[in-house]
Amino acid sequence: MRAWLAGLWILALAGFVAVTPARAEISAKAQVAAMGPGINILGGYDPYWRGEPTTFRLKEDFRLAREAGFRTARIAVFTFPFLSAEGRLDPAWLKRLDAVVAEAEAQGLTVIIDEHDFEACAADVDACAVKLANTWYELSERYQGASDKVVFELLNEPHGKIDSVIWNGWLPDLIGIVRKTNPTRNLIVGPVSWNSLAELPNLKLPEADRHLIATFHYYSPFEFTHQGANWAPPNVEKLSGVRWQGQPAEIAAIEADFDKVSAWSQAQDRPILLGEFGAYNLRGKLEDRARWTKAVADAADRRSFARAYWYWDGGFGVWDEQKRVWVAPIRDALLGKSGS
Ligand code: BGC
Repeated sequence: MRAWLAGLWILALAGFVAVTPARAEISAKAQVAAMGPGINILGGYDPYWRGEPTTFRLKEDFRLAREAGFRTARIAVFTFPFLSAEGRLDPAWLKRLDAVVAEAEAQGLTVIIDEHDFEACAADVDACAVKLANTWYELSERYQGASDKVVFELLNEPHGKIDSVIWNGWLPDLIGIVRKTNPTRNLIVGPVSWNSLAELPNLKLPEADRHLIATFHYYSPFEFTHQGANWAPPNVEKLSGVRWQGQPAEIAAIEADFDKVSAWSQAQDRPILLGEFGAYNLRGKLEDRARWTKAVADAADRRSFARAYWYWDGGFGVWDEQKRVWVAPIRDALLGKSGS
């Protein structure tokens, strides 16, 4: 090739690189590696999402989370109440989501938009199929130009009438909707039965799509983490005094569970996010909860799973939103003593 031709080619290439917009293009593995310790924060239960007064301080609390050492914000959003009959998302609600995404990005956090209408979906599968599709058309289009720090989670904890046959049947369509506008954005998908690790072997992810992160949730032993919880089954709600003292058998149970996830992850070549784990404070002792939290966080870290604690404030909280202080034992369990 003549020198001037080669020069033109280099110029053209440089021009192309300069004008190509930044795309979400990071491997699923690299995305998980960059997630660091994460936190479930400003979920759809917060009055913020209805435009009502809230104790949550968007800028300040995201900064606090980042300064303490959290690197990922998982945002559990309820889109269904904000969908019109034509399947469009309420513009005021979308602006609120824009503000959350912008603030997370300003803090350098990875932000997971987690569709959390899992109860509505379990109750009415047909309505869920339509609403979920509409949601992902809308959100995919809106955030197609967002940085690769923005990650979508298709549906939190499918369960009830959504069994693995239904869920696996939906996945190619749902993923296809997102892929029209976000060909390489990483998506998070978990198994049925409340994202149970036991159901991972039944999760069928589209083989050719390598921008998928598998997720599971961990609340075992449930009798410990949910004792007294009024949304748990009655036999667990009525429990109290269930301890978790980090005995070898207790640790071994976590290790064995996480080894199963690891084996699946390696066999399938899919990186893992532990998207929720936590222990409720009504009857669980703080020292036990902190011990359990550290054991689970460490088990995840040792296997290179990303992790997001459930939850920022309230009954599981790492942060006391009323007193505006850290729940230090939980923070230290998640982030280390120095909180860095
Ligand atoms: C639910 C919460 C619940 C938590 C622990 C989440 O997925 O949305 O309502 O507190 O799991 O049970």
